[in-house]
Amino acid sequence: MTATNNSSWIKDINLAALGKEKIDWVWQSMPVMRMIAEDFERRQPFAGMKVLICLHLEAKTACLGLAMQAGGAVVTMTASNPLSTQDDVCAAMVKAGLKVFARHGASAEEYAQCHRLALEAGIPDLFIDDGGDITTLLHSQYSCHLEGILGGCEETTTGIQRLRAMAKDGALNVPMVAVNDARMKYLFDNRYGTGQSVWDAIMSTTNLVVAGKTVVVAGYGWCGKGVALRAKGLGAKVVVTEIDPVKAIEAWMDGFQIMTMDQAAPLGDYFITVTGISDVIVGRHMAKMKDGAILANAGHFDVEISKPDLAALGQGPRRIKPNIDQYEDQKGKRLYLLGEGRLVNLTCGLGHPAEVMDTSFATQALSLLYLKENQGRLPKAVLPVPAAIDNQIAEYKLAAAGFSIDRLTKEQKEYQESWVVE
Ligand code: ADE
Repeated sequence: MTATNNSSWIKDINLAALGKEKIDWVWQSMPVMRMIAEDFERRQPFAGMKVLICLHLEAKTACLGLAMQAGGAVVTMTASNPLSTQDDVCAAMVKAGLKVFARHGASAEEYAQCHRLALEAGIPDLFIDDGGDITTLLHSQYSCHLEGILGGCEETTTGIQRLRAMAKDGALNVPMVAVNDARMKYLFDNRYGTGQSVWDAIMSTTNLVVAGKTVVVAGYGWCGKGVALRAKGLGAKVVVTEIDPVKAIEAWMDGFQIMTMDQAAPLGDYFITVTGISDVIVGRHMAKMKDGAILANAGHFDVEISKPDLAALGQGPRRIKPNIDQYEDQKGKRLYLLGEGRLVNLTCGLGHPAEVMDTSFATQALSLLYLKENQGRLPKAVLPVPAAIDNQIAEYKLAAAGFSIDRLTKEQKEYQESWVVE
């Protein structure tokens, strides 16, 4: 269809229909979530319960919301990042009967207001958080309601960092399942999901080559490992910066160069922060960078690359292309920041592939079920995903892929569990 004969086609575009198309597409590649949704629909484990989901509001997340709704829950959705929200997906979720409080490009005030409205739409029995914003809001401004909440799940490394800080201060007052720390989450989502989606977003936003360039990856946790591995696969020379000596050696043995950020600053064509820590790239690094260096962040918050220091270079930010801001110093050197320094894979791209979010969100769904089934029996602490859930999701994924694996015989099990040498 072209816009030349008349422009009526614009009116025909139905936002919710576009969002539904996206949701239908990803559902096809989420077999474990489909299985869980069907099971929830049959059993109605969440009948009459209120579930609040604060995540990146894109198509895969909608599948999680719809699965909870299928299980009988009244579902409210709100965003964990103002730039990752996809309005068409939100429209489709509203049409499907979910309550949604979010808007792409929300200001800081609107974003916070959406969180409050989502809580005021009905204090949840169960919630999912990504980065800890809802958890901290509940514990500060809505603490009188905490007693009635069965528990929550946290999606990401940064959120768990915040939860552990709360627990250390004796301030955590609901059971919180650390979904990020499940093997079926971090081994695939953090490593392969981030690895692919970060490069997908950077390449489609910049349309520049990666092969032959120098890529500096700050942080060699599971996400950093994925980003570095994929950069290598794309033909880049990869430098890793770390603060953990063990992880630095791991990166070295994986074939990467190890440097400080001060050493790496003059060399990098691309800089990608994946640390969960603030001020990883600051003014003194920027001063040493080459003209045209591209900066992107893949950590949860937009604090890893100092935006005040970029602005202090002189001119900028100047939006030169969607999701690319140029900053220029007095001598005309230009640095480019992608997606305003927010999670690049979700602000400049579509997030992790559906097959990966399939198991991450299956872990979320079954962890909510675990919280519900163990109501009143769990401590108000940061809790691991039970190994049985992790293993069950892996079994579902293997079955959906049509793979079989070997099983231990009784004798092998006995051997494995014995300590006496015969
Ligand atoms: N899509 C929805 N949530 C996501 C997340 N935490 N990371 C990447 N893609 C996502």
